[in-house]
Amino acid sequence: MTDEQAPARSLLEIPSLPNLPLIASLPWIHHREGFMARMLELAEQHRNIGMFRVPLPGNHSPIFIGNVSLAAETMDESKYEKVLDGPLVPIRDFAGDGLFTAHSDEPNWHRAHRILSPGFSTTSLEHYYPAMTRSLEALLMHWRRATAPVDVVLDMTKLTLDTISLAGFDYHFDSFSRPTLHPFLQSLARALQETIDVLRRPPFLERLYRSHRARYQQDIASMFALVDTVIQERKQKPKESWPRDFLSLMLEEADPKSGEKLSDENIRFQILTFLIAGHETTAGLLAFTLHQLARDRELFLRLRSEVDQAIPRDLPTMKQVLELDLVRRTLSEALRLWPTVPVVTRAPKEDTMLGAFRVPKGQPFGLLLHALHRDPAVWQHPARFDPDRFLPESVKARTAAAYKPFGVGKRSCTGKHFALIESALCLAMLVREFEFDDPGPLVNMPTLSPKPKGFRLGLHRRTGTR
Ligand code: HEM
Repeated sequence: MTDEQAPARSLLEIPSLPNLPLIASLPWIHHREGFMARMLELAEQHRNIGMFRVPLPGNHSPIFIGNVSLAAETMDESKYEKVLDGPLVPIRDFAGDGLFTAHSDEPNWHRAHRILSPGFSTTSLEHYYPAMTRSLEALLMHWRRATAPVDVVLDMTKLTLDTISLAGFDYHFDSFSRPTLHPFLQSLARALQETIDVLRRPPFLERLYRSHRARYQQDIASMFALVDTVIQERKQKPKESWPRDFLSLMLEEADPKSGEKLSDENIRFQILTFLIAGHETTAGLLAFTLHQLARDRELFLRLRSEVDQAIPRDLPTMKQVLELDLVRRTLSEALRLWPTVPVVTRAPKEDTMLGAFRVPKGQPFGLLLHALHRDPAVWQHPARFDPDRFLPESVKARTAAAYKPFGVGKRSCTGKHFALIESALCLAMLVREFEFDDPGPLVNMPTLSPKPKGFRLGLHRRTGTR
């Protein structure tokens, strides 16, 4: 029988973890580096069939895809679209119909996408670049004064939060003048953690978590209060004094198609969306890249030589940052091995076939980006860190489906260029100025957006001539 004649298979035939009453597959999904690390193991185990099912408590049984050829089929925008699944569903409690958590057919997604997309063009990013350099200078001061190894994840989190809030809403968290994270960020971190914890709690134990739920509601209320104050304060100022930032754009611009503006409630959700989508992801990218550089002296020196030649002194212009080729490729390679949004979810718009399987309309599939990024059918020696994979000829020779750290199609990341410019600027300046001690092997944190765990970096100011 040829492939075409083979009967269509049912999704019930794909491998699944055991599904015990009440606790589903909980005993099989534990991993000391978190859920995603376990999913990567399962993807490797089921590489040939390309997908597997993970029954979770509460009758939720997501299917994950871990090979490129199968994932590529779900990237066809005419047949598939983004759907909300997993933690994105509870994240709607505080990000509502903001860009990240809107359903693909929700009118506010289309409206906000049309209003906000021009704000992320490379030309518009010139306006936000001073916020990037200003926040970076605070980090540099902090590291120059360091007398003990620095907490890289905390510092990158402070940097990226300060940058997005300054660039986006002219709000100063001034994180480097505080010993701990701003209370807003503590609320955000707790609320995000709750969105993953709740998925793995058997519903019958929910009563035991009343205090968590109350804390969650308080955290959401205090995040709303801060964001609403930012919006009201802006409205009370004369328009001529408004800075050119995302908030002004959202308050002033109407949708070019419908002529409608965004409501205050939707602006609140968009601000929270930018804060959620725009800081932890970039902080993780920077932390993983710094970890790699601290362990790979040869790459560190190549990178430093590129920066020394292009930007021997002072802070660079945005144009100079965009020209740092090896820095850009190093960041791309870090996002390959450690994509900081590890899953995107796609579902068919109509009944269809996926490989040999019959798939009903609306069936969600979680694409495991870190598994696609390590699929040996596409990537040679996938575990090896090699920025040359992103030389133009290598990129051209590879299917685009094998590398999607910024997501798929029209729902892919709006902030991609923002994140890459911010990260390249930071990396270049740190490599130019500091020497790093070896921090030891990488261990992942079991958080929603992965980061290196317990990453303390010993630093020294660079000495000698350039
Ligand atoms: C390294 C950093 C970043 C990574 C890896 C990343 C990754 C992603 C991915 C994978 C998606 C698609 C999610 C899905 O399909 O469910 C996405 C969407 C999004 N990202 Fe990013 N992101 C980063 C930084 C940023 C920044 C800095 C911002 C804002 C300034 C941002 C704003 C957004 C928004 C608004 C969306 C939703 C787009 C839509 O559906 O219309 N991201 N991001």
